[in-house]
Amino acid sequence: MKFLFPSLVLSSSLRCALALIDCSEVNRATDENPTGRVAACDHFLGIENQSYLNWYTDSDIDVYPNSAFLQGSDPQKPQDGAAVHWRVGDGYVHLAIAARATGWVAFGLSEAGGMIGTDMVIFTAARPNELIDAYTGEERLPQTDDCESDWELVSSNVDLEGGFIMFETKRLLNTNDPQDKPIIDDSSTIISPHRAIAAWGDSEEMSYHGLNRARGAIRFHGQGDEESTFRTSMEVADGSVDLLARNFTIPTEETIYESFCFTRQELIDQGLIDTQDKLNIIGWEPLVQAGNEAYVHHYVVTASNQPSCNLTAEELQMAFIEMTYVWAPGEKGIAFPDFLGVPLFGDDGFQAFRVEIHYNNPTLDAGVVDNSGVRFYWTSEPREQEIGIMNVGDPFVGVRGQTIGSGLSFHQFECPRSCSALAGQEVTVLREYLHMHEVGLRITNEQIRDGEIVHKAAVEHWEFHQNGNAAVQQGSFVVQPGDSFRTTCFYDDQDGSRTFGLASAEEMCMAFLYYYPRQKFDLGDGFSMAWFCGYDMFFPQCNATYESRALDSKEELNREYAIANPQCKEPPTEEDSGRKAFIGALGLAAGALGVLMI
Ligand SMILES: *[C@@H]1O[C@H](CO)[C@@H](O)[C@H](O)[C@H]1NC(C)=O
Ligand SMILES: *[C@@H]1O[C@H](CO)[C@@H](O)[C@H](O)[C@H]1NC(C)=O
Ligand SMILES: *[C@@H]1O[C@H](CO)[C@@H](O)[C@H](O)[C@H]1NC(C)=O
Ligand SMILES: *[C@@H]1O[C@H](CO)[C@@H](O)[C@H](O)[C@H]1NC(C)=O
Repeated sequence: MKFLFPSLVLSSSLRCALALIDCSEVNRATDENPTGRVAACDHFLGIENQSYLNWYTDSDIDVYPNSAFLQGSDPQKPQDGAAVHWRVGDGYVHLAIAARATGWVAFGLSEAGGMIGTDMVIFTAARPNELIDAYTGEERLPQTDDCESDWELVSSNVDLEGGFIMFETKRLLNTNDPQDKPIIDDSSTIISPHRAIAAWGDSEEMSYHGLNRARGAIRFHGQGDEESTFRTSMEVADGSVDLLARNFTIPTEETIYESFCFTRQELIDQGLIDTQDKLNIIGWEPLVQAGNEAYVHHYVVTASNQPSCNLTAEELQMAFIEMTYVWAPGEKGIAFPDFLGVPLFGDDGFQAFRVEIHYNNPTLDAGVVDNSGVRFYWTSEPREQEIGIMNVGDPFVGVRGQTIGSGLSFHQFECPRSCSALAGQEVTVLREYLHMHEVGLRITNEQIRDGEIVHKAAVEHWEFHQNGNAAVQQGSFVVQPGDSFRTTCFYDDQDGSRTFGLASAEEMCMAFLYYYPRQKFDLGDGFSMAWFCGYDMFFPQCNATYESRALDSKEELNREYAIANPQCKEPPTEEDSGRKAFIGALGLAAGALGVLMI
């Protein structure tokens, strides 16, 4: 039985009748053509997908030239996930979403990749003519937006027999609503794509969804095919080096972090030239082992200017302080613009790397062997300018050993103007990562010029186990000599025993900014330093001040997203209040079942 709802009938005039796709006839998705129509054959691994394909074939392809598959979290069901098709135009995002469910489907724009701090749209089969515009703050329970609903339902299709829900919707890219997340122009691949999540279920109302959830990233303004653009720009490389987990057997534990270190010699063994000259890294590409997608949660690559990995745990943390690459699902390769490179070898380039992988094994599967990691592409050709990493906040953990304080607290590091003044020229920031550990709640990094905040990066809802190094979704910006930085971290340490330190059970507060051209600060006596600014630094120009205090309530976190009872431009209509009561009931049902977890 197939239900066609009035909204679908309404939109059907916009559709062209197209022949059904015969997936055995089309070329399967390739590097050259991973998106759009052909990719639909591969979504849901092409398993029991007829209902989805029928619907997809029936829709006008020009409406949705782009698609992505958000991989589900259940390692036993790799064919599950959510197919997202989209187009951006006229100030709107147009979306079509499909998942293997008969009850409900939720799609969200997430800050860290998890379920907190998320902007959501929820479709339920029970109310096929409406959508619920929802958000989550710190709790994993969706709340209906207080301001008007911004997601417009275009069509819906619940196929109980085929086991799929599909719906089409559109929303303004920027609604100005404090409970919605704007979709920014992410057409440049240097800008972090939007983190997307989805969840689904067969129950009539949204409820605890276990592993029926998916994560990924969507470059809404992507120009053509990111994958082949990346390949083309890597054609100039002399070679590549893989930094991979070495036949690592994933333990039968829900969550573990494992590090793999690669010495200079191991890079040379993979064909990197053994030279004192400078080489350039020109791109990074994630390599997640096929079949292990659900286990590899995210990873971070750090680098050292020393060739060795034979160090104590603490020495490793200090030597591999510079973060060079971060991956979370959906993230594609990063190709640097052709005038930029990350220095390798030479006088002060990187010599060794460390990959720290967060594995998730929710179904406690035994004997899963992994070789995931990252590939970097290098060239011996010079590049016009070097990419550097600017470190502010407290990168060397100058406050090491101090307690954070019990309950809610505020910690602020201010890097003085004298530090950026050493650069003597303006620099451009391409990407900014913010970093705390487990008890972080919110982090901001402000750039200040003449007493005014000229740029502010924030992670409003921190979720360490989702994304311990959050790439802020923003465009590039310029730092002028004399600008200062103010990095602020908010924590909640319930038992008051946590200290600042390098271990993951301790805390940190820092920001890493990819910028160019790379600067070296002259320390005298022939010594120079990368752009580090932190508390109790040995170098007075880049010695940050530090202040901290306890906070009385969460209001003092000054969050700017998902605030309850915000000012709305228009008061909620009666219809919205009706929806609010509805989702309130959903919340209660979910509460009884436990937290909704992504
Ligand atoms: C699913 O899609 C594949 C193509 O990817 C097609 O060959 C197959 O027949 C479909 N399976 C079902 C059960 O619909
Ligand atoms: C991983 O194991 C396979 C099979 O035992 C072996 O061929 C391969 O060399 C191993 N790889 C590494 C990096 O140890
Ligand atoms: C590692 O370092 C220790 C002490 O510095 C040394 O004794 C040991 O031989 C080194 N191991 C390797 C594999 O180089
Ligand atoms: C850095 O600042 C701290 C106080 O914030 C001070 O105790 C220390 O001496 C300063 N270090 C240098 C090298 O200026």
